[in-house]
Amino acid sequence: MTTVFIATSNAHKVEEIRGILGGPDRVFLSQGDAPVRLEPDETGATFRENARIKALTWATYLAMEVCNLGARWVLADDSGLEVDALDGAPGVHSARFAALDTGRRGNSPDAENNAKLLRLMAGIAPARRTARFRCALALTPVLAGADAAAMAAATRDFEGVCEGALLEHPSGRGGFGYDPLFVPQGWDRPFAELGAEVKNRLSHRARALEALRDAWDRE
Ligand code: IMP
Repeated sequence: MTTVFIATSNAHKVEEIRGILGGPDRVFLSQGDAPVRLEPDETGATFRENARIKALTWATYLAMEVCNLGARWVLADDSGLEVDALDGAPGVHSARFAALDTGRRGNSPDAENNAKLLRLMAGIAPARRTARFRCALALTPVLAGADAAAMAAATRDFEGVCEGALLEHPSGRGGFGYDPLFVPQGWDRPFAELGAEVKNRLSHRARALEALRDAWDRE
């Protein structure tokens, strides 16, 4: 039995990761199972750097004998939306896109982020509304007694991308974040309408997790 600690408090991400990576020999824990709240500043310029910051913060904590929850691995996801007409924004700022204007700390409600995105995209024709979701995963082994540098050296990175386009109005109640606006390539409805089963086959997170699962299966 292998225990994987998912370094997120986003219940939607946990559910998607469990849905894709789950199996009889894997147990998943997430931030809600830990007795502390660690909220590292996501100061990286890329999704990959931010995923590593989150994975290493938690792996360093769990590597202390008194803090270990039986976790063998820490898995962190950093992800977001890149819109071509906005030169790749919101990118690494996807979770706090609306708050960038107000200076408020922390993430913004999904509805505020979506409203800002629609405002910036007003009047942009369908053909120019292309975008992609990108997901970086960092997988760090919890090495008892090791320092952050040793665990950073042992960290592995995986990435997944899902191309698509943005609607002019939100639609659907499933998923989270920008799902009501994002129509994956080859489909005519947004993730929020397509349901978990379809999203877990197509999404950026699904693709990154498949790469991770393949690497695990090869070991
Ligand atoms: P993070 O938790 O710092 O990685 O921020 C991720 C943000 O990107 C979320 O708050 C969403 O706004 C957006 N995002 C990432 N993945 C998805 C997805 O699968 N659907 C919709 N929005 C997503």
